[in-house]
Amino acid sequence: MNALVINCSPVRNGATAEIVRIAAEQLSVQYQTKTICIDDYRFSFCKGCRRCHETAECVQQDDIPMILREMDAADVILCAAPSYWADIPGHFKAFIDRCTPWCNTHTPHAKIKSGKRGYVIALRTGPGMHECEQIIRTIEHFYGHLEIACCGGLGLTGIEYKPQVTPRKDDIIAFCEKI
Ligand SMILES: Cc1cc2nc3c(=O)[nH]c(=O)nc-3n(C[C@H](O)[C@H](O)[C@H](O)COP(=O)(O)O)c2cc1C
Repeated sequence: MNALVINCSPVRNGATAEIVRIAAEQLSVQYQTKTICIDDYRFSFCKGCRRCHETAECVQQDDIPMILREMDAADVILCAAPSYWADIPGHFKAFIDRCTPWCNTHTPHAKIKSGKRGYVIALRTGPGMHECEQIIRTIEHFYGHLEIACCGGLGLTGIEYKPQVTPRKDDIIAFCEKI
């Protein structure tokens, strides 16, 4: 079984990257695990033309299909996303918008294989859990339209930089043990 862990932050070596590293290490006990970062890929914003509603394909050609191929190869997908202005980072939102050819609300639409399980780890600097819950809801919504079953979410508050992840390592490992 394959697991894919996605760093949904544009920062390749920050707090989210550290969470991805810990999660991937734990998931490797059970799964063939691959990590990617949203910033590894080059893609444009959705233009909202809705051509994909008729063709199931985007008019733009860039790296988006590469990310979907990584998702298609995985049985388990874990998105780790920081709060940027109380929601997912713009890079990741731009990616979700570009997944409209795969969205199940219109026919025809592209499809990744069914039966996948999705998970979310959300983090933020501030103290309250509401922003983490918002991020989990956003990604759960995204999973739903790709027919990925959202099976769990973890929110981590009080994290700005990488060293603040270390005291939360046990929480991350305990969450990943249940995946
Ligand atoms: C542009 C930007 C916006 C942010 N907005 C929020 C916010 O609204 N609430 C919050 O609690 N933290 C916010 N943060 C802090 C991040 O959630 C936190 O630093 C996180 O650890 C960043 O992870 P990263 O460095 O891996 O991207 C923001 C950080 C940035 C860079």
